[in-house]
Amino acid sequence: MSALLNDVELVDRILAHVDGNSTDKGTSVWREPAANYSSPERFAVEMEVLRRVPMVFCPSAALPEAGSYIARTTVGTPLLVVRGTDGIVRGFRNACRHRGMKLEEGEGCKRAFACPYHAWTYGLDGALRHVPGEDGFPDLVKEEHGLVPVAVQEKGGLVFVTQGTPLSDGALPDTPDLLPPDYVVFNKIEFDDPANWKLIGETSMEGYHIKALHNQSFYPYGYDNLNIVELHGRNSRIVFPFRRIEKLRQLPREEWNVQGRITDVHQLFPNTHLSFLSSHVLLTILEPVSPSQTHWVVYQLAPRIKNGKPLDIAEARRDANFVQDSGLTEDRRAACAIQAGLASGANTHFTFGHYEQAIGHFHRHLAEHIEKLEAHQE
Ligand SMILES: [Fe+2]
Repeated sequence: MSALLNDVELVDRILAHVDGNSTDKGTSVWREPAANYSSPERFAVEMEVLRRVPMVFCPSAALPEAGSYIARTTVGTPLLVVRGTDGIVRGFRNACRHRGMKLEEGEGCKRAFACPYHAWTYGLDGALRHVPGEDGFPDLVKEEHGLVPVAVQEKGGLVFVTQGTPLSDGALPDTPDLLPPDYVVFNKIEFDDPANWKLIGETSMEGYHIKALHNQSFYPYGYDNLNIVELHGRNSRIVFPFRRIEKLRQLPREEWNVQGRITDVHQLFPNTHLSFLSSHVLLTILEPVSPSQTHWVVYQLAPRIKNGKPLDIAEARRDANFVQDSGLTEDRRAACAIQAGLASGANTHFTFGHYEQAIGHFHRHLAEHIEKLEAHQE
């Protein structure tokens, strides 16, 4: 994988676009059938793809110590993800091996998991440790009744889960290391929107709509349709510069740094966005619930130390609330309005042009994965 542009390269390209009133452009147009946003059959196939690729489950920082766990349904499967005493993150299907009771809800930190039903107890490594009244189960082989594992990989500050048989060799997350280890989670929010997960994802993948949709929120600080777009592996990076980046012209190139001067969005295939904003980082996982329903899992993070100073939570929260209440709300409304408009039958397909190349890249890879899946099933 080629390295992403560094700060100086980014600034050079941004300033050239400012001067030339231009933007990064793709070379092809993608036409996506509108039915792919509402069809239950298509949705079922997409869910199977999502189960068989490394999918971001949470930031590493959400599992800070041995015993830290998160129980959440992801792509329809209740999972329990936990950091062991050896520091390794493991994932399991969240069901007791006795009668299938859900072991845990929510998140926390424990030394073992005791089933709320009959108190069968499992270690952080998933091994069945204790069965009350064990003589009532004369033939029970405890070694065969550990929690059922799912594949977990931790890379670059992110925890990835692959629930099913991987679609690609080794199925390592093809993401660069993005989240430095000193980031901490300062807030987590979850909510639902009546829109297909891809419609929501698409709103973060282009800046062609900044002036029209974000006229009073993002546009006063940024530009319309001025983005740097880098396609890397199955993923993409979309950079939205702030107007204040032009002040760098007065500084020597060696001092150019983009911190606080861009919004840096990484679309991580298939359903995650990692966005570096002025004073915080947003990790957004879009959990598909149905063709027209998506559950958002949003982590807000910030570095423990910034410019030598300890994290100012109030500043990070202000930045997070601004994004949440203004631009993000506008994007959510747009996705929901498109979903509602599908019933109009006006469009047989949607067209993503040269300014929307990251979306075409996403759909191309999703289509390739679906082809792979169908080839496996033949
Ligand atoms: Fe937007």
